[in-house]
Amino acid sequence: MTTLTQQLTSELDALKKAGTLKNFRHITTPMQPALHLEEAGDVIVLSANNYLGLSNHPKVVQAGKDALDAYGAGTASVRFICGTFDIHRALEKTLAKLHKQQAALTYPSCWQANTGVIPALTGAEDVIIADALNHASLIDGCRMSKAKRMIYAHSDMNELRARLTEAKALNPRRIFIITDGVFSMEGDIVKLPEVVALKKEFGAIILMDDCHGVGVIGATGRGCAEHFDLEDEVDIITGTLGKALGGAAGGYVAADQAVIDYLNQVSRPQLFSNALPTTVAASAKAAIEVMLDEPELLTRQRALVARMRSGLKAAGFKPLEGESAIVPIIVGETSFAIKMSEELLKQGVFITGFGFPVVPEGHARLRIQICATLTDAQVDTAIEKITSVGKHLGVI
Ligand SMILES: Cc1ncc(COP(=O)(O)O)c(C=O)c1O
Repeated sequence: MTTLTQQLTSELDALKKAGTLKNFRHITTPMQPALHLEEAGDVIVLSANNYLGLSNHPKVVQAGKDALDAYGAGTASVRFICGTFDIHRALEKTLAKLHKQQAALTYPSCWQANTGVIPALTGAEDVIIADALNHASLIDGCRMSKAKRMIYAHSDMNELRARLTEAKALNPRRIFIITDGVFSMEGDIVKLPEVVALKKEFGAIILMDDCHGVGVIGATGRGCAEHFDLEDEVDIITGTLGKALGGAAGGYVAADQAVIDYLNQVSRPQLFSNALPTTVAASAKAAIEVMLDEPELLTRQRALVARMRSGLKAAGFKPLEGESAIVPIIVGETSFAIKMSEELLKQGVFITGFGFPVVPEGHARLRIQICATLTDAQVDTAIEKITSVGKHLGVI
């Protein structure tokens, strides 16, 4: 055994002993509310980002199959060399329209979009001010930037004002306020009206990651900017195609044409990483069309979120409040969250426990995510099982 192997084996053993080692289950069916796991049989999944149930929607699947026939399997290039297909242009036009922005640019993931856009638009002469609970991809994007970085406590508008005041005193070229739309571990929504008012007062630029907002928040599922009727005020939106919009993979930036043109020239993942697969682009475009053509999916998702929340509360749980399709129950230590998740799996309910380093130690949680194609009976069964496991483990 090499020294590296020995060191890593002992670190993994320590995780195992602490009960914090992540276990992976293998799915043998399409992603949908009822699926089959090699290790646990038939289960109801409440951990997928498949908020509108489009991962296995016939139109979304068919669009991918048609694209496979039309374009073959691979793009075989980054965008600027020879990897730009007409389906990229069609999807990007659809995304721009979805967010009422001038243009959009896709990436193979939103992780790449976030780590591609932030360093491209900020330099040593700029200041970035970020919410403390931003997603890891925004955090890494900020770390990759040469800009001065400041953090404000989660959704604390007094702190945001204080940071903006400090930033302004530095007389920077640009000040960016960077925030999630829906915070992925809490499920709560950015205080966008206040953030916009501060942006205007201080002449800042807003970059909002709406990965968990699109397909969930807003009258037609266009996300947090639509929800607050502030689509004209969010300068740059980043999003994913890996959650409500088909759930495959892929991310994007939507913004003014000049921002997109600039990213095309300088954003490093664009320049050095292959283009989004055409099959995924076609499926995502179909997913957006289904989302807009079938508003009943969003209505249904919201009814199921309400059903889950009221069932959990009636059983004595205190899920974190929020308007999104994320319903977190805080249970304490990481090992406990993993144990609870394993107990639930034995009962046929698949909810992953999240602990450190995804959330702070002591705030581990079960993150329940609601899909529009769950049945009432599946939600009720899940509530019953969560309640019985919760009682057994002394959570309620
Ligand atoms: C808020 C947020 N931003 C970005 C990402 C990354 O998205 P992707 O899976 O497309 O890389 C995620 C995924 O978990 C997320 O929750």
